Amino acid sequence: MEQKKQKQKLKRKRRNKISHNTAYKTKLYLTKTTILKTPAVKILKENRLGINLAGLKLPNPTMLASGILGYTKETFKNIADGGAGAIVTKSVGLKPRSGYANPTVTQTSCGLINAMGLPNPGIEEFAKEISEAKRVLNVPLIVSVYGFAAEEYATVAKKAVTAGADAVELNVSCPHVKETGSEIGQKPEILKEVVKNVKSAVQKPVFVKLSPNVTSIAETAEAAVNAGADAITAINTVKAMAIDTETAKPILSNKMGGLSGPAIKPIALRCVYEIYEKVKVPIIGCGGITNWRDAAEFLLAGASAVQIGTAIATKGPNMFKAITRGIDAYLKRKGFRSVNEIVGLSHKS
Ligand code: DHB
Repeated sequence: MEQKKQKQKLKRKRRNKISHNTAYKTKLYLTKTTILKTPAVKILKENRLGINLAGLKLPNPTMLASGILGYTKETFKNIADGGAGAIVTKSVGLKPRSGYANPTVTQTSCGLINAMGLPNPGIEEFAKEISEAKRVLNVPLIVSVYGFAAEEYATVAKKAVTAGADAVELNVSCPHVKETGSEIGQKPEILKEVVKNVKSAVQKPVFVKLSPNVTSIAETAEAAVNAGADAITAINTVKAMAIDTETAKPILSNKMGGLSGPAIKPIALRCVYEIYEKVKVPIIGCGGITNWRDAAEFLLAGASAVQIGTAIATKGPNMFKAITRGIDAYLKRKGFRSVNEIVGLSHKS
């Protein structure tokens, strides 16, 4: 008799457990929450971090900035495994380019100065890598594109999208390669022509990465948006140099390069703040982010997402997870249900 009761009790316990799990699953589905690792009852966590960036779905607002790491699908996968919500490739052009001679990078006390000279395999070759990367990646892949004329930007963008790119980011801000980059982005009329050409060539979102080396970055952003930009990335590197006191010569073979890292964070933050007051499209903040607090500052200034470059190059891909966790804890501590709630919050006094 006692044994029978015990058995029934056990049966009831199992049944309850199943219905409890089923209820959880239903709730999971209804509230679009994400499943974390065991234990079972603690697996629920509200998804505060997922965003829709100009139509792209990102699991969290951190992205790999352009120019960091190579062009292979293995490196992209490595970055996604490190927790990046999206990946931006190195800039690719119409034809292969070997770039400048060494030295191409030099360290300063507050960041890196680099002048690679846009080395890349050319879009034909890179298209294969894009298609293969798309097969292994579970986050959006954004291809950074440069050109020496509006039509060239459009041709490269079209080939990238045909190969599987989820969006393109126009490099109109490289600070030191002649007749491309900032030489385009610093002239609003030429910038508009580039954006319009690309917009009419592709059906995917077009991001425009701007240079801080202008009189008014907000006005440049406005020009890009008027031409059809779906989002603005701010900022690219700041034109800079370093000199070797022993040889009395510039260190980089190109003399001038682009400064990235903590030194440019306050400049980038100011740029995002100014752009937010001028345009309605999403802004992607970029420049010197090394921890969650830096990232949160950009979100509060008006960025919907952030790109991280130098910190990934120096500290590795797991920085994405660390920064995402930090943002999540901050949102939770402050009582926000979504990262979207803090975008531009510093403007509301
Ligand atoms: C390079 C390109 C950039 O857009 C930049 O900001 C810095 C360097 C380059 O390839 O040299």
